[in-house]
Amino acid sequence: MSSTPDIDDLVAQARQAVAAATTIEEIREVSTAVSGKKSPLAQAGRHLGTLDPEARKALGQRLNAARAAIEQLIEERRAEVGAAELAREMEADRIDLSEFIDGSIPAPARRGHLHLVTQTRDELEDVFVGMGFEVAEGPEIETDWFNFGALNIPPAHPARGMWDTFYLDLGAPESTLLRTHTSPVQVHLMEEAVAGDRLPIHAVMPGRCYRRDTPDARHLAVFHQIEGLVVDEGISFADLAGTIHVFTTAYFGPDIHSRLRPAYFPFTEPSAEFEVTCTICHGEGCRTCSQTGWIELGGCGMVDPAVFTTVGIDPDRWTGFAFGFGIDRCAQMRHQIADMRALIENDIRFLRQF
Ligand code: FA5
Repeated sequence: MSSTPDIDDLVAQARQAVAAATTIEEIREVSTAVSGKKSPLAQAGRHLGTLDPEARKALGQRLNAARAAIEQLIEERRAEVGAAELAREMEADRIDLSEFIDGSIPAPARRGHLHLVTQTRDELEDVFVGMGFEVAEGPEIETDWFNFGALNIPPAHPARGMWDTFYLDLGAPESTLLRTHTSPVQVHLMEEAVAGDRLPIHAVMPGRCYRRDTPDARHLAVFHQIEGLVVDEGISFADLAGTIHVFTTAYFGPDIHSRLRPAYFPFTEPSAEFEVTCTICHGEGCRTCSQTGWIELGGCGMVDPAVFTTVGIDPDRWTGFAFGFGIDRCAQMRHQIADMRALIENDIRFLRQF
């Protein structure tokens, strides 16, 4: 018969081994070694059958007590190591919202903002509201009548070539279209004012326009205009020129050079084009301004009496002026954007600049 191992010794060895374990995995291994089936403790129990009942009982009790003591040691150590591991994990996963690793205060998350064209539209509206204008809107899908006919541009009129049009496949051919300019909103406003006996009119009408234009440095197929219309008694070309001057100074600042040049629009007479010095080349001539040194911002003129008659306004009593400027062009010149296509490319590095 092999000698019975010293049980106190086994417990002492187990205590040491358990205390040395620093991870849950190590505790699992130590547990198998000190209390598993092949452990010295289990082997000590194999002698029991050879002992007389009294001695068997005494050794059995001592072995059970030793096993209980070792298991308690293991459980206590498992709890300690488990708590330490959890604390380590939590520390590793900790997100400190008050400071970055380098100790700096975190920058606030970058927020989105309105697109430059929308900002420009808002600013232009503000300028005109400050001058006493109301803001109105009209439909983007128009009939031929509002976009052309009522504006003194009957079918087959050569001036239709000024606006290369997207027609919609609705009803009679070429009867419905995507508006090529905001001028049809003038017609809606004048008709509504006549119907509601609400003359005079002082309004601006911003909105999206569509043309079969090939995109280039200063053209897009979908762009924005802001239309202006004043219908009142005694309005003259001086009022138009003064309004444009005030608007230009307010939006571009006092240093901008601008000029009106005679032009032709079927719905205004006389008509003019409004230009500013190209801000890309400061008038020297560049690709953006096609080497002219000037950029056209819009058209304007005195409302043609034929348009007044069409909408039922008495041209002998009322006079008025109208204008239509490119909002994208205004943004382009104010912010010196060499190529207007940048406005629709959605390059976040570009958009963040404004
Ligand atoms: C017109 O559209 C007239 N309805 C303006 C007008 C209104 C004249 C009232 C008289 C009275 P025009 O086609 O020139 O005119 O366009 C006016 C402005 O819209 C241009 O000067 C330009 O700033 C802008 N624009 C025109 N086409 C485009 C385009 N494809 N892309 C970007 N902007 C454009």
